[in-house]
Order: sequence, then structure tokens, then C-alpha cells
Amino acid sequence: MTAGQVDLGAVGLDGGAHLLLRRALAPLRPGDRLAVLGTHPALRVHLPAWCRAEGHRVEWPDSRGAVIIRGAGRDGRWLGATRAGAGTQGAVVDRPPARWGLAPRGALVEEGGPEPHFDLDDRRLVWSEVAPRLYAHAAARQWDPATAVPWDEPFSLPDDVEAAVVQVMTYLVENEQAALIVPARFLGRIHPHFREVVQLLAVQVADEARHMEIFNRRALLRGGPLGTSSAGGRASLFTLVEESDFALASFLLSVLGEGSFVDLLEFLHHYAPDPVTRRVAWLAGQDERRHVLFGVAHLSEQAAVDPGLRARLRAAVERRHDALRDTAGLNDDVFDALVVMAAGSWTPEAIEAGYRAVQELERAMDDGRRRRLERLGFPADEAAELSALHTRNFM
Ligand SMILES: [Fe+2]
Ligand SMILES: [Fe+2]
Repeated sequence: MTAGQVDLGAVGLDGGAHLLLRRALAPLRPGDRLAVLGTHPALRVHLPAWCRAEGHRVEWPDSRGAVIIRGAGRDGRWLGATRAGAGTQGAVVDRPPARWGLAPRGALVEEGGPEPHFDLDDRRLVWSEVAPRLYAHAAARQWDPATAVPWDEPFSLPDDVEAAVVQVMTYLVENEQAALIVPARFLGRIHPHFREVVQLLAVQVADEARHMEIFNRRALLRGGPLGTSSAGGRASLFTLVEESDFALASFLLSVLGEGSFVDLLEFLHHYAPDPVTRRVAWLAGQDERRHVLFGVAHLSEQAAVDPGLRARLRAAVERRHDALRDTAGLNDDVFDALVVMAAGSWTPEAIEAGYRAVQELERAMDDGRRRRLERLGFPADEAAELSALHTRNFM
């Protein structure tokens, strides 16, 4: 008794016939018989080999065709398989095992295969509930550096104002380079199970790549050359790049550094002497807000379940402050360039007003840092103390 029949026509097993066979075998139970008709000249050679590989038997009762006796077949491969996270979407688990590796969250994972070591594999250390939403927002807000900035809009600036803009842009490119490297280094260490966090950081890296491009392009818009890069500024940024703990790095970079940068970019947007500078500051500022949001969100979620976190964050700020104690912090040329930009002219009154505006900026940065530190659960006095220890380089 055969339980079914399939006609392969002239299609061979080297041309897709396995799909027709599998489809016909799928509803059958082990032991059921499937009659197979077909005219492909190699069917008698290929069919037994295919059946062996799939765990079925095959007989040739007469010249018209074959009969497959269904085995347990490929089902056996999936006996020990587990879902990488329950439910249709694949729920995020606390500790995805190494053997899930690159399997998509929610997939049925066959046993065996490599067990890659992703050391950031603890939900509490990596995940944030806002990550999927922030990723969608980030993807929707991507802009094209070629068209988002009015590169050709005519303007002319006095030479020393142009030089101030170029100096600030030079400083920004330097800081963006650090801001790109830091998340890029963690990307490959995060278990792919936390997909949206990986996606969000990948877009963040792409954001920084575009920030580097637009600031560099503005610096060279009137022929350059670029301004100065100070040893103190680079020392400050290098302490960020060196931090290998994900929580501490995103605290120092995103909560404190990029947080301060949001205020700096707002200042540059406000005092920009030309439309290109105004626009590049605005574009980068929009992205930076998102980078700060993720840092604050995932660390405040982590602080809620890990009471020791705040002490570690505090120690990281103090350590960095001590490491930078003997360095100058912010490049003097950058400070002066900010004053000139805010002054707008060289009358003593204008310079005094520009100087006050930069002091006001530093106060706004301090306010912002203290606000974000309080969101992480630091009491107001401790938040003020830690904000004061933050690098004078802003980032
Ligand atoms: Fe940036
Ligand atoms: Fe950023």
C-alpha cells in the first residue's frame, strides 16, 4: 500500500526535485510509502543517494518508478533543537548561551555548531527596553552629508573668524574619531541575541562617521589648513578609548561626554557665523541627543538592578580625573576660538561678551551633567561633585 504519489516529470535531483519529494513526504508518517514517478535519466542513481542522506529507504518494484519508505528522516536533526527565545518575536533572555551564536533571536537552533564567545552576554549589562524604539528612530533619521548641508550657500567671513571656525571643526573631528571608536570596539563583543542594541550602536558608529565628514569638510571649505590638536585633548580622549568595561565606557562617553557635546553643538548652532557651520552643528546635535538617551537609559535600567553600579561609575570618573590631572584638558586654541565665535567682532565689549558666553556654556554643560547623573540615581551633592571632576576637554 502506498500512502501517496509524486510525479517529478523530467526534473532531476540536480534540478530541484528534492523540493517536490520533501513536500510529498512531509504529511506522511515514518513507514508510509510514497510512489515516485519520473523520467529524469539519472533518477535511478540520484534517488537512492538522496534517500540515504535524508534517512529514507527506497525500492524499485517495477520499471515505472520507485517507492520511498519514509524514515524518521530529517526530523531527527531537530530533536534537541531549542528556540533562541520564546514566542514569535523571540523573547530577550537574561543570558543567551554561546551555542546560540549567530542564530537569529527566535530561530529554531540545531544542536552542534560553533560556540563563539561574546563576553557581553548578560541582559543587565547590555539591554535596554528603549533600544528597539531608538534604533527605529535612528534609522529613520539618517541624512545624506552631500545634500543635508548647504555647502554652496555664499558667505564670507573675516579671516580670523574663519580661522576660529576651522579650529573648532578640527577639535570636533578629533572628538568624533574617539566617539566612533568606542562603540565600534564593543559592537563585536555583544551577543547578537541583543540585536537591537547591536543595530543601534552600528548606526551610532555610522552617525559619528558622518559627523567626522561634515566637520572636516566645513574646516576645509575655504581651503584650510586644519587647526591644532593638543596633547591634553588627545590624552583626555584616549582615556575613553582605553576603557574596556561597557558600562563605564558608555557612562564616560555618552552620559558625560556626548551629554556635554549636546550643549556645545547647541552653542555652535546659536553662534555660528555662517549657514554651513550652523547646519553641521544642528545635524550632529540631533544624533548626539540619541546617543546620550541610550547611555542614560541602559545605565539607569542597570542601576535599578545592580546596587553596586553607581560606586563603579563614581570610581571611573575619579580614576579618569586622576589620570588627566597633569594634562591641560581643553586645547587653549579651542577655548579662544569659541570666544571669538560667540563675540562676533573684535571690540573689547564683544570679546568680553563672547568670554561670558563660553563661561555660560560651561555652566550649561555642568547643569546637564548633574541632571543626567541624578537620573542615574546619584544624590544632588554627589552629582555636582562628579560633574566637576569631568574632563575639561568636554568629551
Ligand atoms: Fe558625533
Ligand atoms: Fe555621538
